Amino acid sequence: MRLEDVQRIAVLGAGNMGHGIAEVAALAGYEVALRDIEEEFVRDGYEQIEWSLGKLAEKDRIDDEEAEAALDRVETFVDLADSLADADVVIEVVPERMAIKKDVYDEVVEHAPQEAVLVTNTSSLSITELSEVTDRPERFCGMHFFNPPVRMQLVEVISGAHTDEDTLELIEGLAEEMGKTPVRVRKDSPGFIVNRVLVPLMNEAAWIVESGDATIETVDSTTKYDMGLPMGSFELADQVGIDVGYHVLEYMHEVLGEAYRPCPLLVEKVENETLGKKTGSGFYDYEDGGAEIPT
Ligand code: 3HC
Repeated sequence: MRLEDVQRIAVLGAGNMGHGIAEVAALAGYEVALRDIEEEFVRDGYEQIEWSLGKLAEKDRIDDEEAEAALDRVETFVDLADSLADADVVIEVVPERMAIKKDVYDEVVEHAPQEAVLVTNTSSLSITELSEVTDRPERFCGMHFFNPPVRMQLVEVISGAHTDEDTLELIEGLAEEMGKTPVRVRKDSPGFIVNRVLVPLMNEAAWIVESGDATIETVDSTTKYDMGLPMGSFELADQVGIDVGYHVLEYMHEVLGEAYRPCPLLVEKVENETLGKKTGSGFYDYEDGGAEIPT
C-alpha cells in the first residue's frame, strides 16, 4: 500500500477518540467508515463529529463548506464486514483491554482487504502482542492520537517487533496528510512516551488528594497556572476519560510494577462510572458548568 493509494479509512470504535479520529480523517479528504457495535453508539459518534465540525466553523478554523464536505465523507456502520469493505487503512479504537482488542482483530482479519494496513490507537498496550493475532504483523503498528484529536497536533507512531519500515513510513505520511506531527516510538513499552509521563502525573495528583494533602481545585490550579499545563490534572483526566487513564495505569502496574498502582480515588470513579465529561461528571460536574479552577 502506498500513501497515494489510501482513499478509504475504517475507524473501528465511535467513542471519544474514535469519532475524533474519524473527523480528522474526513477533514483530510479521506472517505471514512465509522463503525461501532450498536446503532446508538455510532449515532452518538456521528453527532459528536457534527457538533465538533460546527464548533470549528464557528471559531473560523474551517469554513462551512469544509465542515459539510467532511461530514458527507463519513459513513456509519454496525456490521463489521461492511465497514471494512474497500478499507485501505483500518484504525482500531475499541476499549483499552487486550482481550477485547484481540477479539476484534480475530474478526478484522477475516473481512479486511488483504492489502489493508492495520493500526491501533491503543494508549499503552503491546503493539507486538496485538500484531501477533493478525495475519499481517509486518503491516501493523500503533497510531496513537491525543484527545481531542481534532485539536491535538501530536501522533505517536509505534513500531511493533515485526512492523516493516514501509508501514511506519506510510502511517507517518498519513498522519502528516491529516495535518498532524508524527513522532516515531521505537520501543514498544507500556504507555509509549506521552502516557508513560502523563498518566503517572494524573495518578500522583489523585494520591495527593487521597492523602488529604490538597484539594482537587488546589492541585489543578497549581498544575494549570503555576506549572503552565493547558489543563489541570483532574480537568485533563475528565477530558480523556478517567477509565482510560485507569486502564493505562492498570497495564503499567501489571507490567512495570508497584509505582504505577492506580490511586483508589480513580478506582472509585471507575466503579461509580463517573468517568469525566463523557458521562456528565467526573472530578467536576459538567451539568453544572464544568471545572472552575481558582487562579
Ligand atoms: N472539536 C471542536 N471544538 C472543541 C473540541 C472538539 N473536539 N473540544 C473542545 N472544543 C471547543 C470548546 O468547546 C471551546 O469552545 P467554546 O469556547 O465555545 O466553549 C473551545 O474549543 C476551546 O478552544 P480554545 O482554543 O479556545 O481553548 P484552549 O486554548 O483551552 O484549547 C485544548 C483547548 C486544545 C483542548 C487545550 O485545552 C489543550 O491542549 N488541552 C490539553 C489536552 C491534552 O493534553 N490532551 C492529551 C491528553 S492525553 C491523551 O489523550 C492520550 C490518551 O491515550 C490518554
